[in-house]
Amino acid sequence: MSAGLFAVKAICAAAEAGEQPLIRALSLPSLTAFGIGSIIGTGIFVLTGTAAANHAGPALVISFLLAGCAGAFAALSYAELASMIPIAGSAYSYAYATLGELAAWFIGWNLVLEYTFSVGTVAVGWSAYVVSLLAQFGIHLPEALIEPPIDRGPGDVGLIVTGAVLNLPAVLIVAVVACICYIGIRQSAAINFAFVVLKIAVVLGFVLLGAGFVDPANWHPLVPANTGHFGHFGWSGVIAAAAIIFFAFIGFDTVSTCAQEARNPRRDVPLGIVSSLAICSVLYVATALVLTGMVPYADLDVAAPVALAIDRHAELRWLGLPVKLGAIVAMISVMLVMTVGQARIFMAMAADGLLPSWFASVHPRFRTPAHSTVVTWVGATLIGGLLPVRILGELVSIGTLCAFVTVCVGVLILRRLRPELPRRFRVPAPYFTCVSGALICSGLMAALPRDTWWRLIIWTAIGLAIYALYGYRNSRLRRAPAPLLLA
Ligand code: ALA
Repeated sequence: MSAGLFAVKAICAAAEAGEQPLIRALSLPSLTAFGIGSIIGTGIFVLTGTAAANHAGPALVISFLLAGCAGAFAALSYAELASMIPIAGSAYSYAYATLGELAAWFIGWNLVLEYTFSVGTVAVGWSAYVVSLLAQFGIHLPEALIEPPIDRGPGDVGLIVTGAVLNLPAVLIVAVVACICYIGIRQSAAINFAFVVLKIAVVLGFVLLGAGFVDPANWHPLVPANTGHFGHFGWSGVIAAAAIIFFAFIGFDTVSTCAQEARNPRRDVPLGIVSSLAICSVLYVATALVLTGMVPYADLDVAAPVALAIDRHAELRWLGLPVKLGAIVAMISVMLVMTVGQARIFMAMAADGLLPSWFASVHPRFRTPAHSTVVTWVGATLIGGLLPVRILGELVSIGTLCAFVTVCVGVLILRRLRPELPRRFRVPAPYFTCVSGALICSGLMAALPRDTWWRLIIWTAIGLAIYALYGYRNSRLRRAPAPLLLA
């Protein structure tokens, strides 16, 4: 049994063999736009507020640099693996080729936390912005239809029932996004491209115009004194804030889920990953500096901190509406790309026999993974409709960090096991980069609350049960002839 659990999939066979039911429609600009599309969203527009006000203060910019380092090291590792293994499935496929089937299942199951849960999380953030925009025009939706029915218990421990029915705007936007993804990759890419241009314009507009209203006094002290509790200001607060806003960097890896739809996957997927992360990191650091410079950090604990900073300066108020609209659009593109990514991961897992073949079926006319898209839609609807943003954001972060650690380690394993394989992109100083990436990501995981760890353990136990009952028995790899295994 153990040989089966640790069996790895042959890289070249996996990469280029098999049919190509999807359309190769994505060029480098589209792939980079996919990366940016899924990176800039709830993290920068919503979570920065609580991270600054409750954890890091003006040192938010250091938290962004720290989380950005974790993202950058992981992105370089992703880029090397994507240049070697240009197939859909992202970290799941890389783990299958390096660490074996059980690890691949574990990572694939965690990627559901990253992707499907991201769609739900961002839908909740989107709902908050839409509700506040409607309120600006005097339209007030009933509380029972905009709040999650489940929330954190007192003192952030456990869960409570709030009495609300469901988060209706979140449910509706998830359905709209799923429809677009169902219809086609070209349509998804075109809509995403337009949204990405808009959201970059909004972030740049905020940075350039907001810079004129920065009061350097708001940056002092840069690292406010710790309150006596781990994570509440001081350097531990900087780390805790980095773990929270790490969510903002999630998404560049969606580029690697589209490898089978890229025109030149070996070159464009690694480039798309690295360039999308680089562009967003610069924008984030600039936004964090301007945001904490415009307003005292203690005031930022609101759902729309960027909008608050603008509203505080009368001369800038005209920018409030475009920024809110930009945030709303930004979040739609995150949901769009994450839905596309999740469906492709399910498809890759089904092609390997770890999920029923039903998940791999491609729509005869639209040529999209139709069933997997529907499953993602149902999952994200339940998550976004029922749960609050903080619980979801932390779960997404822990699942993603877990995948990032695997990818960093996977690069080193493959350098040893398969040094001869062609790599269009190589991680510079791999021992430094990959080991630092794995260590920083593990450190950020450790900084997440204990409740989140329990949720991860429960999630993993459910995943292992599904693997034992289905994946282990139906895995194609273990039923395949010897050449599919690495020598
Ligand atoms: N990085 C994405 C966001 O911030 C998931 O919304």
